[in-house]
Amino acid sequence: MSPRCDRTAAWGALQAHYQAHGRAFDARHALQADPGRAARYTFEAAGLKVDLSKNRLDDATLALLLQLAEQCDVAGQREAQFRGDAINATEGRAVLHTALRAPMGAAPFGDEVQAALSTMLAYAESVRERVRAGALTDVVHIGIGGSDLGPAMAAQALAPYAIPGLKLHFVSNVDGHDLAAVLPQLHADRTLFIVASKTFTTQETLANAEAAKAWFLAAGGRDTATHFAATSSNRAAAGAFGIEHVFGFWDWVGGRYSLWSVIGLPLAIAIGADAFRALLAGAHAMDRHFAEAPPARNLPLLLGLLDVWYRNFHGFGSRSVAPYHQGLRRFPAYLQQLEMESNGKCVDRDGHPLPFATSPVVWGEAGTNGQHAYFQMLHQGTDVVPVEFIAVRQPNYGFAPQGALKDRLADQHRKLLANCLAQAQALLQGKTAAEAAAEKAPTANPDLPADVLARHRSFPGNRPSTLLLLERLDPATLGALIALYEQRVFVSGAVWGINSFDQWGVELGKALCSQLLPRLDTGDTTGLDASTAAALAWARGA
Ligand code: F6P
Repeated sequence: MSPRCDRTAAWGALQAHYQAHGRAFDARHALQADPGRAARYTFEAAGLKVDLSKNRLDDATLALLLQLAEQCDVAGQREAQFRGDAINATEGRAVLHTALRAPMGAAPFGDEVQAALSTMLAYAESVRERVRAGALTDVVHIGIGGSDLGPAMAAQALAPYAIPGLKLHFVSNVDGHDLAAVLPQLHADRTLFIVASKTFTTQETLANAEAAKAWFLAAGGRDTATHFAATSSNRAAAGAFGIEHVFGFWDWVGGRYSLWSVIGLPLAIAIGADAFRALLAGAHAMDRHFAEAPPARNLPLLLGLLDVWYRNFHGFGSRSVAPYHQGLRRFPAYLQQLEMESNGKCVDRDGHPLPFATSPVVWGEAGTNGQHAYFQMLHQGTDVVPVEFIAVRQPNYGFAPQGALKDRLADQHRKLLANCLAQAQALLQGKTAAEAAAEKAPTANPDLPADVLARHRSFPGNRPSTLLLLERLDPATLGALIALYEQRVFVSGAVWGINSFDQWGVELGKALCSQLLPRLDTGDTTGLDASTAAALAWARGA
């Protein structure tokens, strides 16, 4: 059992290093002083290239962070994960999403995994046949959290690979507006509903599934066996709901890690079995890299350690993700669950309160949209927010543009990439007041003293960012990208000594909701705090 991270020698050394060098470290100077820095701080794995050189770290920081990983036994914890030890101790479960993407013989439960995958993919292919034949036009996927975000994000990202003629809808919110917006687009006899819930007890999903079934029957649908399928580890509950086609999985697949399991069914229907297997292979390649690459070149390890450096030593409270690809617009939302549900914990594995910070707030939007919204704060706000830029070199629109459109889209892609690189450059470079004063500012108030205006127009710079560079957004690369983030979240969780695989923090609100729900009918406010009682009265229209 390794000591808690803040009791290791490396932690103390990092604190001293932060005071002596880290706090004042300037990545601009480091890049100027060391012509080899950009190349040395660029790492490659499983088709991804990651440039860390604009971050606030140097060789001494890295060496200490790697010592921290060693003293916290991150490697031992990584092996325990891959081996299938019950590292989710509060639920007494193994954490084996890595086994879902491993080839036969390379991970535990190979037989079950391959059998379930083949069955799911065969069904997906049969659904694709119905689409090709024109018998099926719409698939409505009903699920929430990990049973929604992964397939919804990946289906958007891989839309150019989707089968023509299929409309894929994702309904998650208990708010009926979500489902109600989809139903009018459907024909009962040409629609497949997939109800995705690991537990098959989730209020939102069951409510939407009940409503979808009611709509289906009212719309003249009869053959629920053909038009409903479920993905769940609770086969009995899915069967009791009346669904015949139930694709099962196991309790050792966490909800937010379940894209690789049968929860990926809507994605497999969209992109087909071969592309789905390519997604798995890309993720497996990243797993192999994480398991085998030397620490100093191990991307998930380095990113996870950088997260610890920023969170616990620099005190940065959030990290922004800026995918410069419209297909990745839901990636920040996906990462929010992955990272904040995993590492948003305030006790260690023994349940003792932690005296240091854990998960940062993870947030973001697709570029360039974010530039016209909150980038102001990233450049000039009082908080430093490390930014992760994700750029894709080769676009893929799902068709080959011709003529003038081809040129226009090529031009737009150049603009997209230029924006991405320029934002990272601007965050790094900044602008002094003297530089600002030397420029013309056409929209500036001419009555304002020049030095006042220059101060408003200056940028501190040295704002850290990471560039994740993808050659193309294909299934294998997306798989590697997601696995990179999964394992990086694992690393920071392993350093902090927390259980990254439970989510007790979502339970209290669920329980209180069940208690409030009948009170909406009765109006009973006994025992409620005055604020909740007043809001309940408001909700009842009283
Ligand atoms: O409420 C949180 C959560 O338990 C997530 O961890 C999970 O991904 C989501 O709900 C959905 O759960 P289920 O797949 O069991 O419906």
